[in-house]
Amino acid sequence: MGVGNNTSALVQGIALHRESGSLVGVRRPIVDGIAVGDIEFVAAFATSKEKIGRDLTEAIFLPPNNFPRLNCDLPRAGVPVTEGLVDATAVDRVAAALGGAEVLLYSAPSGRPEVARAYAEAARTAGVAFINTTADPISRDPQVMSGFEAAGLPLLGDDLASQFGTSVVHNALLRLLQERGLTLVSSYQVKACPAGAVAADDGA
Ligand SMILES: NC(=O)c1ccc[n+]([C@@H]2O[C@H](COP(=O)([O-])OP(=O)(O)OC[C@H]3O[C@@H](n4cnc5c(N)ncnc54)[C@H](O)[C@@H]3O)[C@@H](O)[C@H]2O)c1
Repeated sequence: MGVGNNTSALVQGIALHRESGSLVGVRRPIVDGIAVGDIEFVAAFATSKEKIGRDLTEAIFLPPNNFPRLNCDLPRAGVPVTEGLVDATAVDRVAAALGGAEVLLYSAPSGRPEVARAYAEAARTAGVAFINTTADPISRDPQVMSGFEAAGLPLLGDDLASQFGTSVVHNALLRLLQERGLTLVSSYQVKACPAGAVAADDGA
């Protein structure tokens, strides 16, 4: 869910891998017998009216997405983007739309834990694993954890570190400060948003 830049990179990266075998940026090409090329998209959720109804492979190029277009064939996914949820009232609708899925990748902007929790609830209801790419505290929330544990479903996150992005640089700097004997009281990351505003993520 969330047809933004992460999703664009993932959809295009898998297509590139299928075409050329490229594993650039992939640290573990096979996890428990499942390889990069085995990933199929079966559903996509967005809130932007421009993306809803479009095929996933078209919607990933609509603004404000700005992840570059990779040089590879991108066959239509045959997956129309559907309306996501913005609060807990639509959990059942999203759960029903997850039929056939095994994993829900939560990839909305960080900072709305109630939305993340609602998607996690939809995944649990549908019997689907949940991966939280955002910094919102969901996969470490004891209530969410016990729900997934009781259902025997994988729950992963929180946050996703890009190859060389703010998270890995931030963590490397924190380790350096500790190595140099400084006492770390708190930390946060600041990154520029497309509109020129500034967003802060909680640090590790
Ligand atoms: N891109 C990275 O390298 C990276 C690295 C680490 C963590 N993350 C985290 O991953 C998340 C996604 O990153 P991104 O770069 O793809 O962001 P993005 O802003 O490009 O994409 C997020 C998408 O989610 C959509 N969205 C918002 N609310 C929604 C809802 N309720 N239902 C469905 N869709 C909704 C937005 O319209 C947007 O298209 C962020 O929380 C970011 O902090 C990203």
